[in-house]
Amino acid sequence: MSRIAKRRHKAKPRVFVTRAIASDAIAKLARHATVEVWDRETPPPYAVLKRRVREADALLTMVTDKIDAPLIASAPRLRVISNLAVGLDNIDIEAVTRAGIAVGHTPGVLTEATADLAFALLMAAARRVAQGDREVRAGRWRTWGPAVMLGPDVFGATLGIIGWGKIGRAMARRGSGFNMRVVYVTRSGGRRNSSDEIAGAKAVSLKRLLAISDFISLHVPLTPETRHLIGTNEFALMKRGAIIINTARGGVIDQKALYRSLKSGKLGGVGLDVTDPEPIAPNDPLLKLPNVVITPHIGSASYSSRYNMALIATDNIIAVLKGGKPRFCANPMVRIRPLLRV
Ligand code: GLV
Repeated sequence: MSRIAKRRHKAKPRVFVTRAIASDAIAKLARHATVEVWDRETPPPYAVLKRRVREADALLTMVTDKIDAPLIASAPRLRVISNLAVGLDNIDIEAVTRAGIAVGHTPGVLTEATADLAFALLMAAARRVAQGDREVRAGRWRTWGPAVMLGPDVFGATLGIIGWGKIGRAMARRGSGFNMRVVYVTRSGGRRNSSDEIAGAKAVSLKRLLAISDFISLHVPLTPETRHLIGTNEFALMKRGAIIINTARGGVIDQKALYRSLKSGKLGGVGLDVTDPEPIAPNDPLLKLPNVVITPHIGSASYSSRYNMALIATDNIIAVLKGGKPRFCANPMVRIRPLLRV
């Protein structure tokens, strides 16, 4: 064997990380691999990512990185993609699995932070927190007024949760703490008795949930089945004045129908942490409406959640580099392709 071939044989696997994450996580990864981090504020452009994956054995991605079949075709060494997220709609899982690449993600550690933000949006939309702040900053706070900035009560209202996974149930617990009546639909539309059942929460059909809820909060992943799950027909079924909260994915709501429904006065308000597309265009008509609160996809953005997500995302990669599967594996049936030595 030539000296170069020998050196390559011993070379550490290479990992490309598409954004700067917790330095502890990077240090841990660096004990097992040569790590390259894209440390700009915005994601690597698709063409750049496609070039970088040519040499990579592992990829640590964000929700902003589109991983599709052409990108995978240019990644002959790649054995694991670890997404710093619970959602995986940025990744073509079928194509990735066919190619023998494991997919990891970071469920669990972001549940409470995301439910906190969903409830914060609910409160903000109901009680016009962001709108009030905009008024004050614009110098339009002239006096206390008996009919100024009225909003619906949260206490005692009906909260409809669409998607009864971890985050949906965490949102339900918050609603329950505010003495809300909680109804929910599961992703499959069925009824489920989960071990951490929320006292009094009731499974109902989607139609019924839309008809009786004062607040509706979305907690489903984006899939072909859930794209535009909430559109013109669903808005028509909602109560007049209902408020909708989305911390899941922008594509779950038909945003044009949402605008029409808000503009007509049918919907009372909306709190969005996700939009379609992201970021929302600065001239999007939704931004002109007063009863809209939008945050820039920060559901899991608490210090501890993002730190733990980074550690799990790196552990998912290290497990594969050691010959196993990611601890949180989205495609457990995958037959991981062998390590390329050169
Ligand atoms: C964030 O959106 C996530 O899926 O974790």
